[in-house]
Amino acid sequence: MNVITDELALALARAPINAAIAAARLVGRGDERAADQAAVDAMRAALNTLQIRGRVVIGEGERDNAPMLYVGENVGAGKGPELDIALDPLEGTTLAAKAKPNALSVMAVAPKGGLLHAPDTYMDKIAIGPGYQDGIVDLDADAGENVKALAKAKGVSADEIGVCVLDRPRHGAIIEALRGSGARVHLIGDGDIAGVIHCAKADTGIDMYIGSGGAPEGVLAAAALKCVGGQFQGRLVIRNDEERGRAHDAGIEDFKRRYSLDDLVSGPAVFIATGVTSGSLLDGVRIGKGEVQTHTMVLNCANGSTTELKTRERG
Ligand code: FBP
Repeated sequence: MNVITDELALALARAPINAAIAAARLVGRGDERAADQAAVDAMRAALNTLQIRGRVVIGEGERDNAPMLYVGENVGAGKGPELDIALDPLEGTTLAAKAKPNALSVMAVAPKGGLLHAPDTYMDKIAIGPGYQDGIVDLDADAGENVKALAKAKGVSADEIGVCVLDRPRHGAIIEALRGSGARVHLIGDGDIAGVIHCAKADTGIDMYIGSGGAPEGVLAAAALKCVGGQFQGRLVIRNDEERGRAHDAGIEDFKRRYSLDDLVSGPAVFIATGVTSGSLLDGVRIGKGEVQTHTMVLNCANGSTTELKTRERG
């Protein structure tokens, strides 16, 4: 029996909703830390009202560096199912500070043991949406070859394939290979969880996500894809002894391991995201005339359902 009932999934949504509202009050103020802190405080307070025994497996950092929602922190009112919680109260702190699209408040929840405890390092990632045979794309293949393989599987020419990439100098060679193949490259400034989810949505023009971003964000994005269908491969990028230590502390011994979707998210997870700023996935929080409106997606791997929540409340 799955311990995350539909009722519990909706109750859990209060955490990203409250975090998004708190962060939204600081959108466009140029203060990333303040917006992030407001989101963290609100998410933690909401989680601690719920009848769950939650443990943060992906959070704001190690206990020494993060006083709240640190990895290993117990959250919840102390009764109820034992859950692993991966969270990012404000995904896209720079997007929020600059009032740019697609800042989100994000959480993935699974029965205990169902989410990889990813360390705070980078991860090389490749993702595509649902409907393709397994292994059509390959993390270790040339980006242009992946475009050609995907175009063939989709029955279109390579110039009809859209690929989302974080706009970073480290992705120069990948971007060149993608453009060389004829693909259209959608560069994003931040927010690779949204970048990955775009692959699974029909109307985004994005078929594939490639590049390195945060490993914690990789697990959160994998949880979303697991619910809606799609493929994801990831491998940690370990650059120095400190990062090796972090991976080791997270219980990882094989630093070169290639993770599949099921390795990252082995349990029946629920993925929840609330828009902070409006974007291609969700509307942002609207505040005005004594009322606050929010927009949330709740994806449930157990039954493949997508629930869209729109709330209106005084505030
Ligand atoms: P923050 O919300 O922590 O600012 O992360 C935003 C983000 O763009 C993630 O979506 C992505 O995984 C990561 O930063 C990429 O890191 P970097 O900015 O170092 O390339």
